[in-house]
Amino acid sequence: SIQKLGSKKVIFLPVLQHVLWNNKSWKPNSIILIYKNTLLDKECTESTCFPPTKKEIYCIFLCDQKIINGIPTRQKDRNPLYVATGLCLFYKNPEGKLLSIAIQLSQQPSEQNPIFLPSDFETDWLPAKLFFKSSDLIQHQTLYHLLHTHYLAEVFTIATLRCLPTVHPLYKVLIPHINCTLHINILVRKLLLSPGGCSLGVEGLMKLMRRDLSQMTYSSLCLPENINERGLDFATAMVEYYYSSECDVIKDIELQEWVNEIFTHGFLENKHSGIPSCFDTIEEVAKFITMVIFRVSVQHAAVNNGQYDYNSWVPNGSLLLCKPPPATKGESSMQTVLETLPDVEDSVKIMSAARILSEKYTDEVVLGEFPEEHFDEPLPKEIIKALQADMSYIKEEIAARNSKLEMPYTYLNPDVVENSVTI
Ligand SMILES: [Fe+2]
Repeated sequence: SIQKLGSKKVIFLPVLQHVLWNNKSWKPNSIILIYKNTLLDKECTESTCFPPTKKEIYCIFLCDQKIINGIPTRQKDRNPLYVATGLCLFYKNPEGKLLSIAIQLSQQPSEQNPIFLPSDFETDWLPAKLFFKSSDLIQHQTLYHLLHTHYLAEVFTIATLRCLPTVHPLYKVLIPHINCTLHINILVRKLLLSPGGCSLGVEGLMKLMRRDLSQMTYSSLCLPENINERGLDFATAMVEYYYSSECDVIKDIELQEWVNEIFTHGFLENKHSGIPSCFDTIEEVAKFITMVIFRVSVQHAAVNNGQYDYNSWVPNGSLLLCKPPPATKGESSMQTVLETLPDVEDSVKIMSAARILSEKYTDEVVLGEFPEEHFDEPLPKEIIKALQADMSYIKEEIAARNSKLEMPYTYLNPDVVENSVTI
């Protein structure tokens, strides 16, 4: 099995967000991974799977879709739909590209669960990638996009509106970051979480989200520390301005109710999540407010803005598949690949949803912009100016980096990172 093949030195990669076909062809021998919120470089290690030659270090990563295992799929026109619970090994080559090198389509090793390789016939390797990528997209949309940004944003929105009065300084800090979230989430529930959606169906998606929520941790939601340390401290500066001692924090009943409401109703009082149920220090408040703003702005942009580019071409990521994953090599053909993909009607639905969700709207407010003035005091105004200066600097840095890339990465440019979850 792939689990054995990987050995202990394989790095587990739980958040694989965008695997795409090589853009020169829709059926290449390799796939490239664009990773959005994992910082892989630091996690590279030597692997015993591929003996190093000369002084090269090979980096091997494992992406495991076990969270989907056992979740029932829905039917379409009385025929079952299918989802794989795959494992994929990736190799980071000396050019820095991550290439898939082995795919197993279900968890339990057996003769009916072969390991597909790039050296197999194209008609074996292609369906393996198709199934793995489909499950990846389902995970991406349901968990990393919907649950980890939209629905958390909703928890923060409700807690803010219920617990913090409009004159509370943290209400003023947070109000730009909860704009339109309830509206879009109502539409999401009506339109996307509908019976005609992905292979898992509404019931399966709910089960998947419940499973993921029970494992969600505070640390996984926070801005990676190595980014936080680079001086992007808007939230910290604001919190430190309004709270001069730990006593101020402890005595702020509204703030304590706010975080407790998030712990109780958002995380179902799960102490293992590490989400605080109260605050004792200024530092804890600053960390939490940073997490909230990061999640609803930057993190949402990272998982939202590339939807049309990567998912409008349905074979690159189909939300539903109509044939079971191949259980033996040498039995698939291009005909079975086409029969596996959704029909024209479902394909158009997937494409149009990706299009609408990636659209730029005229009333968007990007990170660092504050069209409504909530602060009168000079220091908070200075802090906002410092944030805007940081954003301009980051914009230039990203533009310079993109000018050297074959495929520019634009989704986190401050120009397109909205203040709140609005789409
Ligand atoms: Fe979104």
